[in-house]
Amino acid sequence: MEKLPLAIVGCGGMGGRHLLGLKELYDSSLNNVELVAACDLRRDNAEHLADEAERLLGRRPAVFQDMAEMACQVPDLQAVDITTDARAHHPVACAAFDLGWHVLCEKPMALTVRGANRILEAQRRAGKVLSIAENYRRDPMSRLTRALLDAGVIGTPYLFLDISCSAGNRIVITPWRHQKNMGGMLLDGGVHNADMMLYYMGDVQQVFAEIRLWERTRYKSRGGNVGGFYERWAAEMPDSITATAEDTLVSVIHFASGTMGQWTQSYAAHGQGFGRRVVFGSRGSLIPGGTRNGISPVVHLDDRQEITGDALLALVPDFALDTITAELFGSKRMASYSMSFPEADRKLLAIEYYELADCIANAKAPEVDGLAGRRAMALCYAGFESSTLNRPVTLDEIEAEETGAYEAEINAELGL
Ligand SMILES: NC(=O)c1ccc[n+]([C@@H]2O[C@H](COP(=O)([O-])OP(=O)(O)OC[C@H]3O[C@@H](n4cnc5c(N)ncnc54)[C@H](O)[C@@H]3O)[C@@H](O)[C@H]2O)c1
Repeated sequence: MEKLPLAIVGCGGMGGRHLLGLKELYDSSLNNVELVAACDLRRDNAEHLADEAERLLGRRPAVFQDMAEMACQVPDLQAVDITTDARAHHPVACAAFDLGWHVLCEKPMALTVRGANRILEAQRRAGKVLSIAENYRRDPMSRLTRALLDAGVIGTPYLFLDISCSAGNRIVITPWRHQKNMGGMLLDGGVHNADMMLYYMGDVQQVFAEIRLWERTRYKSRGGNVGGFYERWAAEMPDSITATAEDTLVSVIHFASGTMGQWTQSYAAHGQGFGRRVVFGSRGSLIPGGTRNGISPVVHLDDRQEITGDALLALVPDFALDTITAELFGSKRMASYSMSFPEADRKLLAIEYYELADCIANAKAPEVDGLAGRRAMALCYAGFESSTLNRPVTLDEIEAEETGAYEAEINAELGL
């Protein structure tokens, strides 16, 4: 199979995770990507990823600190995978399109909606593929959840709740995730919730929300951080930081279908945290399946006991995973799986790479294209702008940049 020559740009925690995704794809029968370069402003990070790539993939990618130099030295390069922090997404993606490359970009698509719009303009000029790396929806349990909703198993959805509370005053993963001008957790983590809301429940029209910064000082966590992916940088983390990004969101969501939603997310919850998503419909309720833990969705119907695990498959006779997902997870139809977080994580990332190369080779549109990536961001920003303006805002006005009071200071600092 023809392989897409690709570079990873941004060789921190997620760059390393993406490399493990590539290894997973390399080991499958469907590999269509070849890692040829690694690029990072920090040469030590790029060198480290290249060393790991040599160990895992058997070939060392060329190392760069600058994309223009990479374009000169690697003329065959066709695509970049952007795993920098969100602040760099729009300059790096725009430069990549101007250099004639296709782009896979980590979420959130950009730091601000204006940044996302700049990426879309650059993509249109270049006529190249843009895929946003939304991994949660690619989990077989998310696919099964969506199939159950599409089949109308719980009837008409009345109400969607997504509530998660955690973290207290700990630094979540990296210090930059608490800075407004770098992408706070309500964007960095929240955009996953937003994408899943759109994936499960369809488009959102309007949001009314309040956001707040409770924990202005945050402290280094004593525990590990996300499966050990950030160990290499643990010593660089200060014992405490001053946070500037809000850490708590409470919102009311109006879906285009008429379904009502409530999305509450707090990274300032002390004591016993929890996370819960549930859809209530006209015939029953549905708890979506887990992501990267193999936990089955759970259905409760008015007139029956709980339905979960393999019994769910009878409710969705047409449900089938796509070829790459079925190969990596071992079956076309499943209602749960048993795998560690890192193993499931790298399989979802392998699927993202496969889809990118498949779209380029066969002129297909990626599932999460730039418009879908911007929509998920707009759902987060609708909350931020609504809170700033103290009124409901529509996603359309956010995307059209008619409302940008919250992001104005970030855009000014970015020179946008
Ligand atoms: N999908 C997921 O589950 C998931 C999980 C974690 C992180 N992410 C996303 O991945 C991205 C990276 O997060 P992370 O945790 O790896 O951050 P990180 O801070 O660990 O790594 C970022 C890397 O990008 C480099 N960088 C910054 N600007 C650059 C530029 N202009 N050019 C080249 N390199 C540059 C930094 O030097 C660093 O090595 C973020 O967008 C984040 O939201 C996604």
